[in-house]
Amino acid sequence: MATFQNSLPDLTKPAPAGGPAIYVETYGCQMNVYDSQAISGVLEGAGYRLVDNELVADAVLLNTCSVREHAEHKVISRVGEIRHRRLDADLPPAVIGICGCMAERLGDDLRKGPRAVDLVVGVDNYDALPRLLGALVGPGIVGTTAKPGTTAKPGATVTGHRQDAHYVAPPDLYPTNGSHLVTIHKGCDYKCTYCIVPMTRGPQSEKAPEVILAEIGQIVAGGGREVTLLGQNVTAYRWQDSLDFAGLLEQVAAIDGLERIRFLTGHPRDMHRHLMDAIGRLDKVCPWLHVPAQSGSDAVLRRMKRLYTAAEYLDMVEYAQRVVPGVTFSSDFIVGFPGETDADFRATLDLVRRVKYDQIFSFKYSERPGVPAAKLADDVPLEAKKDRLAELMDVQQEIWTAAANAHVGAVVTAVCEGAARRPAGAIRLRTANNRKIVVTGMDVAPGAALTVRLTGWEGTTFFGEPVPA
Ligand code: SAH
Ligand code: SF4
Ligand code: F3S
Repeated sequence: MATFQNSLPDLTKPAPAGGPAIYVETYGCQMNVYDSQAISGVLEGAGYRLVDNELVADAVLLNTCSVREHAEHKVISRVGEIRHRRLDADLPPAVIGICGCMAERLGDDLRKGPRAVDLVVGVDNYDALPRLLGALVGPGIVGTTAKPGTTAKPGATVTGHRQDAHYVAPPDLYPTNGSHLVTIHKGCDYKCTYCIVPMTRGPQSEKAPEVILAEIGQIVAGGGREVTLLGQNVTAYRWQDSLDFAGLLEQVAAIDGLERIRFLTGHPRDMHRHLMDAIGRLDKVCPWLHVPAQSGSDAVLRRMKRLYTAAEYLDMVEYAQRVVPGVTFSSDFIVGFPGETDADFRATLDLVRRVKYDQIFSFKYSERPGVPAAKLADDVPLEAKKDRLAELMDVQQEIWTAAANAHVGAVVTAVCEGAARRPAGAIRLRTANNRKIVVTGMDVAPGAALTVRLTGWEGTTFFGEPVPA
């Protein structure tokens, strides 16, 4: 397997700078959240200032997603909205850049037409950002002078996959939710026929294990106690034929001071028994598996090139339930894939009923230009896609309602992640199974573990009360 990063960059924080102000806005998956942290780190290191909205920024970078058509439309309309909001506030036009998967998929086309942007920088080229932005918002340059609608703008397009792409975010820019994201590889070597990711993120290539360990070491040294290992298929991690994902989990779990390890996303085909054994054995690895099934119909799975059958998927679930104490599952599903019949869709409902997921993310099939499935007729009418999506969500709601009701009264351990959005004064906690709990009447520091009794629930969030030790 190729490698894309085999040393840790210098993460020493630069002196606070008064340079141009940059606002980074993130769309899409956790890989983009991680990349936005890395972009922020690269820019801070070069003397830029990070700000939190487009009205105080000299440049706005949108880190984008191409996975469905809707995700791309949202970004294009956001470009128009940013321009209008600045115009309404009597501000000069900001430089606008598109990073991420849309940059990779659409390239220079994003610098043409009425919504043309100034910069297009793909997923492996963020080290070019300080230089590219410097030419547009460097000292003495305020915004761009080009009028919206003109195509001959200053700016640049830098895309294409590189093996030497090199990003790690400084620990103090990591988020949120108490879990520090650590990308362990990039790209994807699967060729699921509906999916744009192999095109936008390129082939799978691994971060060296010593870099991953050093990165997590820095997080722990900075006070972090939990990491989420990230990749399109973390379970396919393989370092020079000597280390697989199970081996990597062992090494990460051996880091002193680290308390919890989560990971996203697992591919059903790579959930080998020895990996599930390791997940069950290693106390620090949380018993929550996000392993997208996509469909419960073998005919659809075959046309999707998912490389497993529904029976194999259920076998994986059943084995995990045996060897991983307290394991729970979440999944993604696509409805209305080309040729999906009502019977195929019923097979998906059947799978959902059998697995009893905590949570599913379900999507209407969206044809992406150039992917293998684009050659198949997108023949499930939009109305049928909508109906199937609604029915799938209803079935999941029914399953979750029964499961959540059964949990009320249970006493669980969970870790505080900070203040809850509401009610005022409440804190939010997360269990090892990735369940959210809101507790009122307690004031503990983020990172502290608490024992709580579940008193009720709403949506995917439980409410709880503290249980005296
Ligand atoms: N690597 C992960 C997830 C990739 S994208 C995996 O293998 O499962 C996240 C989710 O978006 C996918 O799981 C899938 O459910 C959905 N998705 C991807 N392409 C899509 C498309 N063309 N239309 C609708 N949903 C799609
Ligand atoms: Fe896309 Fe399939 Fe790769 Fe996931 S495994 S990123 S769905 S090609
Ligand atoms: Fe979207 Fe790219 Fe992630 S297409 S889902 S941002 S890898």
